[in-house]
Amino acid sequence: MDDLVPLRYHDGCLELLEQTLLPAAEVWLPCHDPEAVAAAIRRLAVRGAPALGVAGAWGVVLGIAAARPGERHQTARQAAELLRATRPTAVNLGWALDEVLLAVAAASDDEAVAVATATAGRIEAADREANRTLAGHGAPLLPPGGRVLTHCNAGALATAGIGTALGVIAAAHRHAPLSNVWVDETRPLLQGARLTAWELGRLGVPYQIVTDSMVGALMARGLVDAVVVGSDRIAANGDVANKIGTYTVAVLAARHQVPFYVAAPTSTVDPATATGRDIAIEERDQREVLELAGHRIAPAGAHALNWAFDVTPAELVTAIITEAGIATAPYGDSLRNHVAAGRSRGVRS
Ligand code: MRU
Repeated sequence: MDDLVPLRYHDGCLELLEQTLLPAAEVWLPCHDPEAVAAAIRRLAVRGAPALGVAGAWGVVLGIAAARPGERHQTARQAAELLRATRPTAVNLGWALDEVLLAVAAASDDEAVAVATATAGRIEAADREANRTLAGHGAPLLPPGGRVLTHCNAGALATAGIGTALGVIAAAHRHAPLSNVWVDETRPLLQGARLTAWELGRLGVPYQIVTDSMVGALMARGLVDAVVVGSDRIAANGDVANKIGTYTVAVLAARHQVPFYVAAPTSTVDPATATGRDIAIEERDQREVLELAGHRIAPAGAHALNWAFDVTPAELVTAIITEAGIATAPYGDSLRNHVAAGRSRGVRS
């Protein structure tokens, strides 16, 4: 099977696989400037924390490549600020933008395009490698024949590689087949029902889509052996921000003694954010909740609250799987070691 990628950069153009249309249509969206990339990020044409970082990095490259000589540093900063403002929770976005800015700041105006291009390429390659490695670390945690639940989409579509949570699931299934993956549909934008289901189908992993509200009933009947999810930002103390509904799954998992694993590269760990309370939670347009596939379902005048993410406290997390291995509590110490290992592997600076 061909490798599934959410984006590809070539000859001054960033093409994004338009995820709002999946799985019905596979359309590649060409972006020629940072504004186009920012607009695509805002409406989730490209999404998933690591993929946002890679797309943001290439977005800055597009900006500098079109800048007039002598204006490349300033253009890089402006493009980065535009892209940074698109989605606040996924730390990989701001992190990747800072990586490019740092590299460009140390380069001359003449070198800026080449240096930014090399940095974006390095970020993309490092994420691909981190996915592969963390999948190998995480796979043995899932029992042969197991029934594993995942929330949202943390697959190839959300990264530059095979995915984080789905990378672990696919690697475990290759080693010793799982009997089923429970795919939370993931209200309101259905990243589970549309994207995770599509990816698992391509991978040949058996799955069933469930409504988010079924998780408790599934666990109460003993039908879930483990949970694996991705993350948008992991605070220094191990609190985990991920798609709205993840916290509910974690509470239920604790109630039913089901292990709750988080899979993420070390670029998702944010040592500068002390705890989950310090994580900015993106609030999105209420129409995403009030409408279904573009059709209004709520009564006229109804309002909705649409937080895109929630925070799962570290005490509910059984382990965090990164490219550096398996981190367990106390997370302050173990994550610090993982971040240091990520630096020496070139996944982060
Ligand atoms: O709003 P989205 O679709 O960008 O949210 C994505 C998630 O919550 C993923 O679980 C997370 O970014 C990890 S992706 C490897």
